[in-house]
Amino acid sequence: MDIPNPAYVAYLSEILVGSDAIQKRVQALGQEISQFYENAPDLLLVCVLKGGVMFLTDLMRHVSVPHAIDFMAVSSYGAGARRSSGSVRIMMDLGQDISGRDVLIVEDIIDSGHTLDYIIDQLRARKPASLRVCSLLSKPERREVDIQIDFLGFEIPDKFVFGYGLDLDEKFRNLPFIGVAKPGVMIE
Ligand code: IMP
Ligand code: MG
Repeated sequence: MDIPNPAYVAYLSEILVGSDAIQKRVQALGQEISQFYENAPDLLLVCVLKGGVMFLTDLMRHVSVPHAIDFMAVSSYGAGARRSSGSVRIMMDLGQDISGRDVLIVEDIIDSGHTLDYIIDQLRARKPASLRVCSLLSKPERREVDIQIDFLGFEIPDKFVFGYGLDLDEKFRNLPFIGVAKPGVMIE
């Protein structure tokens, strides 16, 4: 796909997962999720903003069981940081009650695991019928908290990536592929 202003090139060291590979995997995940929740009466996909938004909108096109969507935003990074600080806060909460519902969290990436660990704790306390995790990416080498990932797109090495929803200092979420950032290069 042509990108009108390829400013990202200066920050890219390699493309890790191309757009076609992402689309194929997302379709397969959608089918897996559809089978798993075939008899779920009240499925809710909870997208973690902002990184999960492109993944959610592609994924839900392949989820054939009726479902609702909702969004929450958390912050776990200091300004400009590329590593999670481990202290997580809810910046925007869900707009609906999740008690008694089948909830699937849709995340962009699980790195240390602190962000998702916190989200899971918060949502579990609201008594959903079930609570599961779908993440596009996982960096297992970086894990500090054990997280069960029920549906996973790709395992990736310990490299900072951007594109397909993931940001490089808040930019380039629009790229259709997942690229590795050049080490040490920051925007501005
Ligand atoms: P964790 O709490 O360390 O697991 O971090 C999870 C969050 O950090 C994700 O939801 C992302 O927003 C962000 N993150 C972690 N690794 C990357 C990366 O390589 N690129 C962009 N964002 C990342
Ligand atoms: Mg992020």
